[in-house]
Amino acid sequence: MKFFVDTAEIDQIKELNDLGMVDGVTTNPTLIAKSGRDIIEVTKEICSIVSGPVSAEVTALKADEMIAEGRKLAKIAPNIAVKVPLTWDGLKACKTLTDEGTMVNVTLCFSANQALLAAKAGATFISPFIGRLDDINLDGLDLIADIRQIYDNYGFETQILAASIRSVNHMSECAKIGADVATAPASVIKSMANHVLTDKGLQGFLADIQKAGIKIL
Ligand code: G3P
Repeated sequence: MKFFVDTAEIDQIKELNDLGMVDGVTTNPTLIAKSGRDIIEVTKEICSIVSGPVSAEVTALKADEMIAEGRKLAKIAPNIAVKVPLTWDGLKACKTLTDEGTMVNVTLCFSANQALLAAKAGATFISPFIGRLDDINLDGLDLIADIRQIYDNYGFETQILAASIRSVNHMSECAKIGADVATAPASVIKSMANHVLTDKGLQGFLADIQKAGIKIL
C-alpha cells in the first residue's frame, strides 16, 4: 500500500519523505488554508520535494470552471493530480482532464456507486472518506472493501486512495482490504511506530543496560 501524506506543511512532508515514507501528497482547501500560504506557491514547493503524485483541489463547482482551474494546477508540475469533487460536474471535469493526460483524484466519495462512476469517468484515484463515515456511525472500512470488490470484478484501474484516515487501525485495515493508497496526517503515520509492549520492553532493556554497565561506544 502506498502512503500519501495528507498535509500542506512542508516540514512534515520533508521529515517523512527523507525516511522513504512518502509516495505522494494530498491537499485540500482546508489544509491549504491551514498552511496560510498561496495554493500555487505551496503546491509548487511540495512538487519539488516529492516525486509521486501531489493532489491539488479545484475550488469551482461548475465543470468548465473546474477544467480551467485543473489545467492551471496541472501546469505547476508533471506530478500534479487535480482533485475534483464527486459531483456530476466533477465527473465531467474528471473525464476531460483525464483525456488530456492529467491525473485526476475524485474526492468526497461516500458510496460504492459514486466510486463506480468515478472509475467509468477514468479517474486515476478515488478518495473514499473513511473517518467522516465513521463520524455518522457508518463503517468507512466497509466502503473501502466494497469498492475493492467492485473494481476487481471489472478490472478498473482507478486506484483506491483511502482518505479521512484518523487512526493507525484505519491504516492496517486498509492495507488488509487492499486499498492501493492511504492518505493520512503525518501524526497518524508516525504513530504506526508505537506499541505499548515496545515501550515496556525498552524500559526493561534500559534497566539491565544500566545494571550491567553495558557499553558499545
Ligand atoms: O484527504 C481528505 C482528508 O483530508 C479529510 O480528512 O479528517 O478532514 O475527514 P478529515
